[in-house]
Amino acid sequence: MVGTRARERGPVRADRGAGVAGAAAGHAPLPHPADPRKKCFFQLAGQTGRRSFQHAMRTMKRLSPTKHFLAATLFAAMEILNAQAAATELPAPQKTGGKPLMETLAARATRRDYNPDAPALTQAQLSNLLWAAYGINRDDGRRTAPSALNRQDITLYVLLKTGTYTYDATRHALIPVEIAGKNIGDIRAISGRQSFAGNAQLSLVYVSDFSRLGKPDADPEAREMAAISAGAIAQNAALFCASEGLLTGVRMSIDKEKLGAALGLKKSQWISLAQSVGTKDTQ
Ligand SMILES: Cc1cc2nc3c(=O)[nH]c(=O)nc-3n(C[C@H](O)[C@H](O)[C@H](O)COP(=O)(O)O)c2cc1C
Repeated sequence: MVGTRARERGPVRADRGAGVAGAAAGHAPLPHPADPRKKCFFQLAGQTGRRSFQHAMRTMKRLSPTKHFLAATLFAAMEILNAQAAATELPAPQKTGGKPLMETLAARATRRDYNPDAPALTQAQLSNLLWAAYGINRDDGRRTAPSALNRQDITLYVLLKTGTYTYDATRHALIPVEIAGKNIGDIRAISGRQSFAGNAQLSLVYVSDFSRLGKPDADPEAREMAAISAGAIAQNAALFCASEGLLTGVRMSIDKEKLGAALGLKKSQWISLAQSVGTKDTQ
């Protein structure tokens, strides 16, 4: 639980896929230092925004104990500062109201007729949608959707016109997905093979981390668990949309390799599903 939450804090850096993703986003891959020992600990601590956590940790291990301690302290402080600066806190979700359940069920339907010129979701709609989909609804950190063994293996990627984020349920905030300290930008159009993916105001991408399920090799059971959990979250989101008068639809028609590279996913992460959400022409 603690590990899960800790992993969700801080800006998401697409380091693992930085070569491919960086090129896709128009950034050159970062060079590695010729001799990491020549870097002072201030520089190492400053690497947090530019290089992978793992690389910085490997480099720090080669320092003297005193320099290692100072670098680690600075590194941790900068991680916290980065995370605080980068996160966009969402307004508190409204946990009451909405259409009655039976009316909501009667309204649920897949929609593909998104208007790219329709207005963006309001911050309140985005907040309520994400909380309804996969927010924390109990003091012990459990969520509105179930997950196998409560491993909470899914991260919701939130693809907007204004950029790409992950949903941090603990902070109820959006965390930018960055390469070289820069948001990877609007990638809605590659979140589905069908053209409507790029038209909808929002795409949610469901990404499971098999290592959270204790099965980094993605065996069939892990995929089943991840897919079933994604379905539960997607239905929560769909019911919220039906209640709120938003358009929505899930899809599996996704170029997962392309999208995974753009998001900088690790080998243990798997895209199970995507879901468009759109507003009507006037809200
Ligand atoms: C697992 C799953 C995968 C789907 N994949 C796609 C897809 O790739 N593209 C699409 O347009 N719709 C997709 N759909 C939506 C279905 O086509 C839709 O749910 C179905 O036609 C029934 O319509 P309804 O949802 O309005 O009841 C998918 C639905 C599910 C549950």
